[in-house]
Amino acid sequence: MKRKVTKAIFPVAGLGTRFLPATKSVPKEIMTLVDRPLIQYAIDEAREAGIKEFIFVTSRGKSALEDYFDHAPELENSLKAKNKTRLLDILETTNMDSGAIAYIRQHKPMGLGHAVWCARRLIANEPFAVILPDDVIAADKPCLAQMVEAYEETGGSMVAAMRVPEEKTSSYGILDVESETAGGLVKVRGMVEKPTADKAPSNIAVIGRYILTPDVLGNLNAAELGAGGEIQLTDAIATEIANNRPVHGFQFEGQRFDCGSKAGFLQATVSFALAREDLHDDFYRFLSDVIPVAQAAE
Ligand code: UTP
Repeated sequence: MKRKVTKAIFPVAGLGTRFLPATKSVPKEIMTLVDRPLIQYAIDEAREAGIKEFIFVTSRGKSALEDYFDHAPELENSLKAKNKTRLLDILETTNMDSGAIAYIRQHKPMGLGHAVWCARRLIANEPFAVILPDDVIAADKPCLAQMVEAYEETGGSMVAAMRVPEEKTSSYGILDVESETAGGLVKVRGMVEKPTADKAPSNIAVIGRYILTPDVLGNLNAAELGAGGEIQLTDAIATEIANNRPVHGFQFEGQRFDCGSKAGFLQATVSFALAREDLHDDFYRFLSDVIPVAQAAE
């Protein structure tokens, strides 16, 4: 029987340079879509997929993240005294069970593969998920829960995948496809990190959700610097294929926002605000007013 996936790694040690100067003092994962930080969306998605242990790979300057998941007794007491139960319920979603959350430091930003490898001792010998909080996915059934369900059939390692425009392949890990089922599950023959359109084996890109076997951690032990002088997670997953172990791409249902980029973050903000009952009407009216003005100025 396949082991259940109960641990997830959240690599949050990157420098977030695309959001400077904000990220000089605010971790990217604490930046908010409407009123919730990116990391909250990632944690909620993990919880809904059955994850029980949450491992953060952090770095210098990320202490706001640790505080975010801690209790805030003064704030809670003040809300209790004022009988603000709705706000107390909201705060409750940020609390983690004692011992459910662990923080590991990545001392140097040597790449996503290296960040995942830093958590190896907490994973030991079981399958685990990796969630990149800057990929936010709006979906009826959360993306990781969709993947866990598919993984129960396939086993092996699995990456979330989606088609991207050909001119964008150089921003992603790209799958070399052996076969594809009608449901969009892809058997992977190889993976290439950030190929130009002419070298890309397909336009199916890897997105920031993974279910990996502990063998991938073994591959990372032996990993060498890859594209961009970083230790690439993609290379360690591709080694699985070379070792004749299955790797699948899972084309999830839902809309993915690249909140690691300014354009993606803004798109997510608009989309999530419009989806909120308490904000929709005013915000929609505002957009309806400003869009014609912007169009007229073109
Ligand atoms: P990005 O490629 O988005 O890098 O990392 P970044 O540093 O966060 O942002 P920019 O490009 O400078 O703006 C993808 C994910 O991998 C993590 C990041 O925190 C992010 O969640 N990461 C990346 C690490 O944890 N360590 C690394 O060495 C690199």
